[in-house]
Amino acid sequence: MSDKLKIGIILGSTREGRVSPQVGNWVKDIASEHKEAAFEIIDIADYHLPFLGTTDGSEPGIAKWNEKLNEMDGFVFIVSEYNHSISGALKNAIDFAREAWQNKAAGIVSYGSTGGARAAEHLRTIMGELMIADVRTHPTLSLFTDFEQFTTFKPADLHLDNINLMLTQVISWSTALKTIRQP
Ligand SMILES: Cc1cc2nc3c(=O)[nH]c(=O)nc-3n(C[C@H](O)[C@H](O)[C@H](O)COP(=O)(O)O)c2cc1C
Repeated sequence: MSDKLKIGIILGSTREGRVSPQVGNWVKDIASEHKEAAFEIIDIADYHLPFLGTTDGSEPGIAKWNEKLNEMDGFVFIVSEYNHSISGALKNAIDFAREAWQNKAAGIVSYGSTGGARAAEHLRTIMGELMIADVRTHPTLSLFTDFEQFTTFKPADLHLDNINLMLTQVISWSTALKTIRQP
C-alpha cells in the first residue's frame, strides 16, 4: 500500500448546472504536477447525504462519506458563494463528520462575484472549530472574468501561481499534521 499523501479536492456545490466540477478538475490537473501527493475529486453529490438530523443516520452514504474523508491527509475545498457564505450542501456535508476532519490541512479555491471571498472567510471560521489547519494562500476566481456567461470556466493565467503556492502549503502542512494523528 502506498503511503503517499492523499489530498481530496471537495466539490462544494451540488445544484443542477453547477460549475464546481469544472473548477475542481482544473485544480486537479494543476495538482497532478505536485508528485508528493495523490489528488482526487470528492463530490458531495455522490454520497446522497440527507439533511442532518432528519433521518436515523443509517443511509450508507453517511458512512461512506466519513470513510472517504478518513482516507485523506488534507483537502482543497472548491467553494462557491451562496448568499455571502458557503452552500448549504457543503455545510451539511461538513457537519456529517468530525474526527475525519481533525488535524488535517486545507486550502480554499473560491469563486463568485467577488471571488467567493466572503464564503471562504466563513469556511475558515468553520474549519477552526473542526481543527482543520487552513493555509494562507487562497485563489479567488471571478464569475465575471474567469467564466464566460457565468457558466463556462476560462480561468485567467494569473491564478496559476496562487494555485501552485496554495497546493505547496497544503502538502507541507498535511505532511506535518500526519505526524500527530493516530495511525
Ligand atoms: C442561492 C444562491 C445564492 C447566491 N449568492 C451569491 C452571493 O451571495 N455572492 C456571489 O458572489 N454569488 C452568489 N450566487 C452566485 C453563485 O456564486 C454562482 O451561481 C455559482 O456558479 C454557484 O456555484 P455552483 O455553480 O458551483 O453551484 C448565488 C447563487 C445561488 C444559487
